[in-house]
Amino acid sequence: MENRMIVRVPGDKSISQRALILATLAEGESRLRGVLPSADPRSTAAALRALGADIPPLPADGAEIRVQGRGLGGLTPPEAPLDLGNSGTGTRLLLGVLAAQSFSSVVDGDDSLRSRPMARVTDPLGAMGARFEWLGAHGRLPLRVLGGPIGGIEYDLPVASAQVKSALLLAGVAGRVPVGLTEPGVSRDHTERMLRGCGVSVITHVRDDAGRRVELRDPPTRLTPLDIDVPGDLSSAAFVLLAGLLGVAPSGVTVEGVGLNPTRNGVLPLFERMGARLEVEPAGEAAGEPVGRITARPGPLRSIAVDESDVTLAVDEIPSVAIAAVRAPGRTRIRGARELRVKETDRIRALVVNLRALGVEVEEVDDGLDVVGTDAPLSGTVDPFDDHRIAMVFGVLGAQPGNAIEVLDPGCVEVSFPGFWSLLQELRDG
Ligand code: S3P
Repeated sequence: MENRMIVRVPGDKSISQRALILATLAEGESRLRGVLPSADPRSTAAALRALGADIPPLPADGAEIRVQGRGLGGLTPPEAPLDLGNSGTGTRLLLGVLAAQSFSSVVDGDDSLRSRPMARVTDPLGAMGARFEWLGAHGRLPLRVLGGPIGGIEYDLPVASAQVKSALLLAGVAGRVPVGLTEPGVSRDHTERMLRGCGVSVITHVRDDAGRRVELRDPPTRLTPLDIDVPGDLSSAAFVLLAGLLGVAPSGVTVEGVGLNPTRNGVLPLFERMGARLEVEPAGEAAGEPVGRITARPGPLRSIAVDESDVTLAVDEIPSVAIAAVRAPGRTRIRGARELRVKETDRIRALVVNLRALGVEVEEVDDGLDVVGTDAPLSGTVDPFDDHRIAMVFGVLGAQPGNAIEVLDPGCVEVSFPGFWSLLQELRDG
């Protein structure tokens, strides 16, 4: 008899952080259940509290929190620099909000965040009239946002990025100015969905070239509060599914209550193209997002070619695809993935260095990598370079029967997936 494990993963990181920001800007009490209690949302919550938000501590079990909104004009000047820790999403989205405030604020983060590009957000915000002062290297944190009135914008994003899109939409909301954006590809649309949930009209058109046009034509005078259940994070589920595919959980695994948003579920067709035995069962909606259960069973995998249009729909799951490729005979080619170089670490480099250290044949190119599948047992030490997702993909590979991989700094997974290592152990134990 099949003895498949059924698990849940913590709340979606993107939605949790947006929920905290929108609940703060809303008028009235928001009720948020399932907010991810990890380091990134905690950093965003702390920054919002420093701006006057009334956000209780994030409970470890995802229990409901109630946030009394401050309204669109209700934030207050912070007394100290805002420390966003490791959170790129928190930083970039808040830059949009801060750009439209009447006060100045300083934004900073950890070494990883200090190394990540911010001009992709400050350039278009600057075109709206926002003013910034770089306090360290140009284009990097720490940064002073001077605040003041801003105007509307019509902007073509050079790369599809939900963080940039969201920063500009939030600047439009906070500054009460119209925003029109075009994106060269698809990026996750949580902000658009959640703004609609707050009563804001956000219009999306799919263009002939598969890109998107997003418009905030009528900026709202107020946001209605949220009452939501945050879905499980598909990006976290991807590690669990990978464990199912690789036989870490010998009878496979089902993840329940997970978000299936079509603008970011591209890892599922990628795994399927690799021959993965996946079953997706939609089960309604939560927080304006489709949710459901996904089952992954072990079985043979095959190598594939991944291109840029695949990458935008699975930008945070490409490391999981690269690790699946280790067990897919032949050469998997991943291209169009240059954005991975500016995540929490350079993920292309981190994959290449660590896979090579384990004896896997890999080739690094500017915008991706090739992975040559092997059935050899793998052993060695992996450095995640302080990147939660790199730590977790190698954790899963290490848990595959026959492998012996030590992941240095396992605690870095706290950024997005508290409880990851104990869940992985449960999967192994069946
Ligand atoms: C996110 C957007 C993506 C993703 C990140 C979360 C978001 O980044 O990689 O983990 O919540 O908007 P980009 O917008 O830079 O692609």
